[in-house]
Amino acid sequence: MNIVLGITGSVSAYKTPWLVRDLRRAGHDVRVVMTPSASRFVTPLALEAVSTHAVVADMFDPSIQDGGSWHVHLGQWADVMLIAPCSATTLARLAQGLCDTAVQLVACSLPAGRPCLVAPAMDSDMWSSPAIQRNVRQVVADGIVVIPPASGELASGLVGEGRLPDLADIVNIVQSFDVAAAEPGISGGTVSIADQLSDHLLSHPSGPLSSPLTGKHVVITLGPTYEAIDDVRFIGNRSSGKMGMALANEAVRRGALVTAICGPTALPTPFGVRRIDVESAADMLAAVQNEADVDVYIMAAAVADFTPEHRLDGKLKKSADNAEGFTLSLRRTDDILAWLGQHHQSTSVVVGFALESTNVIEYATQKLHKKRADMIVANSASAPRSGFGGDDNTIIIITANNEPESFPPMSKTSCASVILDRIGALI
Ligand code: CTP
Repeated sequence: MNIVLGITGSVSAYKTPWLVRDLRRAGHDVRVVMTPSASRFVTPLALEAVSTHAVVADMFDPSIQDGGSWHVHLGQWADVMLIAPCSATTLARLAQGLCDTAVQLVACSLPAGRPCLVAPAMDSDMWSSPAIQRNVRQVVADGIVVIPPASGELASGLVGEGRLPDLADIVNIVQSFDVAAAEPGISGGTVSIADQLSDHLLSHPSGPLSSPLTGKHVVITLGPTYEAIDDVRFIGNRSSGKMGMALANEAVRRGALVTAICGPTALPTPFGVRRIDVESAADMLAAVQNEADVDVYIMAAAVADFTPEHRLDGKLKKSADNAEGFTLSLRRTDDILAWLGQHHQSTSVVVGFALESTNVIEYATQKLHKKRADMIVANSASAPRSGFGGDDNTIIIITANNEPESFPPMSKTSCASVILDRIGALI
């Protein structure tokens, strides 16, 4: 794709040479335009070097006036325009249609229907201020896609919403606008990516402190379980626990009291999370049953469905008895999610996961009803950037009363944020 990257005056502009590099590594051609303030944070020279194109930092630069209307030609060249980071001032200029820097000039010159994405980055109080939120609503209404800022440590030293999202997330979102490369996505979603993002943005404009999860007790199971064959061998699976840990981290950030019941995983415990380590499905069930006054259960663990009927003492030796092999007898484990579906307090919300290889929405919806859950987060074992081990996931959120919501591939951190938004709406 041809991508015009507009860079504006936010501290996070220092990350943009990496953004250009990542977009180019993904196979795209990138041309950079900048506002005068942006060049106080990152130099045009660095961006010229990584993009291998001249950078427009001064819209009146005599060297670019040759063919006239350089901004119109650049707008026509672009398949997508991305403004990242987008400062509060640029957002206001976009909302007004002002064209007094190279960035707005190109944004306003894009042919009709050509996608323009903006990634606002600023301090959290600025981001939530009424004037800036008014401008956000205006640009969304004008058809600009707003990539919601991430939460975390800000340049001011405060913690909150306003960070430029992970570069990998920005690249994924930009790529989802690549019409030429579009593959038929996971079925069932009728909402466009642009709509999903805008919904997400407008659903939590007031930031994390007023989250419905504040003060709630959230219990999360995560990781695999190991089912012992003998003292040294077990049946397990490849779950890393990353999705569950991302949920634990994000729930703490929203002010929840979080208990993570962890199958064997080497992942560190996020700050503020109460961790209980277990090994088998039976241990995990007992740990879940032991928790009291739970508001939200999120069963993200990949619990083994079968366990050896008898655990052998010591270490099974090779012998004449098993020279030709031996038969291991397995029995079903108790289903923790299904147990919760029947026994939880009526006020608590129960969320399960479903990894499916085919008919994702159909099978996950069956699990929702069979296990009496309030929500199933489904992912396809065959979708790109999905499932066990990786840093990304491609999820579909299924509830009893809403249409399934399909999301583009995102980091597990971003998935956690979307999942907790939706859980918040059920509390
Ligand atoms: N789960 C559970 N206890 C089990 C098995 C699964 O709590 N013994 C939970 C998982 O944590 C997950 C959900 O159930 O939230 C879906 O698990 P999955 O293994 O996909 O579902 P199954 O009902 O076992 O169906 P399948 O036949 O597809 O494996």
